[in-house]
Amino acid sequence: MNAVASRSRRSVLAVPASNPRFIEKARGLDTDAFFLDLEDAVAPLEKEAARQTVVAALNEGGWDGRVRTVRVNDATTAWAYRDVITVVEGAGANLDCLVLPKVSDPSHVLWLDTLLTQIERSVGLEVGRIGIEAQIEDARGLTRVNEIAAASPRVETLVYGPADFMASINMKTLVVGEQPPGYDPGDAYHYVLMRILMAARAHDLQAIDGPYLKIRDVEAFTRSARRTAALGFDGKWVLHPAQVAAANEVYAPTQEDYDHAELVLDAYEYATTVRRRGAVMLGDEMLDEASRKMALVVAAKGRAAGMKRTREFVPEQE
Ligand code: GLV
Ligand code: MG
Repeated sequence: MNAVASRSRRSVLAVPASNPRFIEKARGLDTDAFFLDLEDAVAPLEKEAARQTVVAALNEGGWDGRVRTVRVNDATTAWAYRDVITVVEGAGANLDCLVLPKVSDPSHVLWLDTLLTQIERSVGLEVGRIGIEAQIEDARGLTRVNEIAAASPRVETLVYGPADFMASINMKTLVVGEQPPGYDPGDAYHYVLMRILMAARAHDLQAIDGPYLKIRDVEAFTRSARRTAALGFDGKWVLHPAQVAAANEVYAPTQEDYDHAELVLDAYEYATTVRRRGAVMLGDEMLDEASRKMALVVAAKGRAAGMKRTREFVPEQE
């Protein structure tokens, strides 16, 4: 099964690892995934203590069904190697992926892959089970995004990091996720988003949109999420409980689209196997192999999000 179909990541909750109150609150939120953050949400003097908080939070559990991830510090920092060793040695069995921020070169991913393999061998964890989510957050990372996507079979998602990215290219705005004033007619992020999406799809990875920082404006969050969902992104970071329901809704298919996709798959399967035809009618719509592929994407996202179909396929009598 490809990565798009395998785990739902409509909403990915950011949780500062130095704040036990936020961690406790995160357990009760209905997100598909979360990451305990050791990077930019944690002050340098708190980073060491936060590692232990992360280990305890993962081992205590209470994360039922969610994708459990930790964001370590980036590969160029003094913290990174000890973040990985402490978290994976201490709680590797209760961890699904590590988020690696500021990936500007494929060697960052190779470094993490190698270190993970060493730790897995050392403590007896299954080698290769822990995945990598690579954050693309600057111009260098974007220019090498294809190589980053291909750098290790552990890479499971590419994540757009708008705040760092906007800073990296000197974008003239301080509002993360919004269009820079003066660029009204277009979408200033289209090129970046599309490059990340193409690299993700070319390597069978998920593409995740980053945070929207004005956390109380749910309407603006929803508008920003709709744009990337429309392109094909699989989910978005959420920073506040108010953003969760919006992300879950925006990145899932509508019930109508989900039902339709399942019907297309059934009708096509019936036509090609039972009736041995390559093109088939479903109501007044003609279906072929390309329709099946499109339906597969929508059905996979719906199934991963736990949706149930409300219509069954009934073959038409000939
Ligand atoms: C996230 O890490 C961002 O920089 O937007
Ligand atoms: Mg960042």
